[in-house]
Amino acid sequence: MVLTWKSMIPCCYKVDDELVRSKKNVKKQSSFQRLTLLDFDDPSSPLSADGLSNSFIGSNLINFTFTELREVTHHFSSANFLGEGGFGPVYKGFVDDKLRPGLKPQVVAVKVLDTDGLQGHKEWLTEIIFLGQLRHPHLVKLIGYCWEDNNRLLVYEFLPRGSLENQLFGKFSITLSWSTRMKIALGAAKGLAFLHEGEKPVIYRDFKASNILINSDYTAKLSDFGLAKDGPAGDDTHVSTRIMGTHGYAAPEYIMTGHLTTMSDVYSFGVVLLEMLTGKRSLDKKRREGETNLVEWLRPYLKDPKKIARVMDRRLEGEYPIKGAQTAALVAYKCLSHYPKPRPTMDDVVKILETLQEESNNTDTAISDPMITMTSNSDFSSESEKNGEKEDAATPERNGRSRKEKYLNGKNQGYGWRQRINRQRMVASYSDTALYRRH
Ligand SMILES: Nc1ncnc2c1ncn2[C@@H]1O[C@H](COP(=O)(O)OP(=O)(O)OP(=O)(O)O)[C@@H](O)[C@H]1O
Ligand SMILES: [Mg+2]
Repeated sequence: MVLTWKSMIPCCYKVDDELVRSKKNVKKQSSFQRLTLLDFDDPSSPLSADGLSNSFIGSNLINFTFTELREVTHHFSSANFLGEGGFGPVYKGFVDDKLRPGLKPQVVAVKVLDTDGLQGHKEWLTEIIFLGQLRHPHLVKLIGYCWEDNNRLLVYEFLPRGSLENQLFGKFSITLSWSTRMKIALGAAKGLAFLHEGEKPVIYRDFKASNILINSDYTAKLSDFGLAKDGPAGDDTHVSTRIMGTHGYAAPEYIMTGHLTTMSDVYSFGVVLLEMLTGKRSLDKKRREGETNLVEWLRPYLKDPKKIARVMDRRLEGEYPIKGAQTAALVAYKCLSHYPKPRPTMDDVVKILETLQEESNNTDTAISDPMITMTSNSDFSSESEKNGEKEDAATPERNGRSRKEKYLNGKNQGYGWRQRINRQRMVASYSDTALYRRH
């Protein structure tokens, strides 16, 4: 059967109870008057720490002192260090009602603004303005903040599985199954749809694997709203703005013109979906020429159902429903349209991914595609993957056979286990936090 975008649509309009419920939630959430960045952007009387804590947004959040946050993170100890991005380091901590009456005992992630870093007060405040007001099961919950002298911190709910980037590309992470990948894709899509469909749409602008956080049950939540923007108002079709975002994820028309729409987020969603299908990073300078940019390299193959098996992540070992993979690939293909118009809305994407999830719930045992085994060393594997390096990201124990045993006995015989680890270390694993700037 030839799979076309249109042929997929009718099945997607099968409205289930959950969808109706989530739609109601979206309506309910967007009915209050959300304050926008403009409401706080008065150069003649800039917002003060007191102003923020007394504002409507501040009343939703806890205004922590620096001393409190130092205590809960054990003096920002290295043992509590979770990672670091363009904003600054992130530490694990624990808060309870000893800090504030009624505060739920919980593990938190405390993000400390690095004042010498890429981001500053504006991004910190933007995060508070958006996340202080937007609440949704697929957005990370902001619990509070600290604004004291030069210190700017943010306190979030803690998501034990870290980012999708760690899960997909981390050296020691477990290979995500097909159904888990689709659950994450659906969750992230719902988060974006919620932002886009509100009365005052929000453009997220920095959708990427490292900004999708994963809960213990693999619920995906969007984090990092420092670059978020209010969508176009009135008759405007787009927002004109400085070009910022992350290489490899930003939409071509936004990079070319600075015109930002919700469709720019849809493109970035397509990039992340492609990363999930292929297990490859959107940009990897270690790949050979012509393969560095994942979208340019593999997008053309996504619309051909016969070629899908060849682009799929080898670590899935063919364990996925072929039709589901074709549909997901077609969703990615449409989201990655060069021009914004043919891209689907995030609402459309949610509907399609929901049908995939239903199907995968109905068929607990994934269908194995024999074609994968035949083509596992296909043209779509980079040199390092052909040498087996990529598999180091997988769990040591899979299918009852250790990787070591498999490696030594398998077709890659010839490289030792230890050597393989060393080779893996040589493969650059970089987090591209560089921001586009026009000047
Ligand atoms: N709420 C959270 N719960 C658990 N881990 C978190 C949380 N927030 C951030 N982290 C971890 O902290 C690390 C740094 O996150 P951060 O968002 O600052 O940077 P990034 O997303 O990697 O890069 P960028 O600056 O491009 O957004 C990530 O590895 C992430 O897994
Ligand atoms: Mg981030």
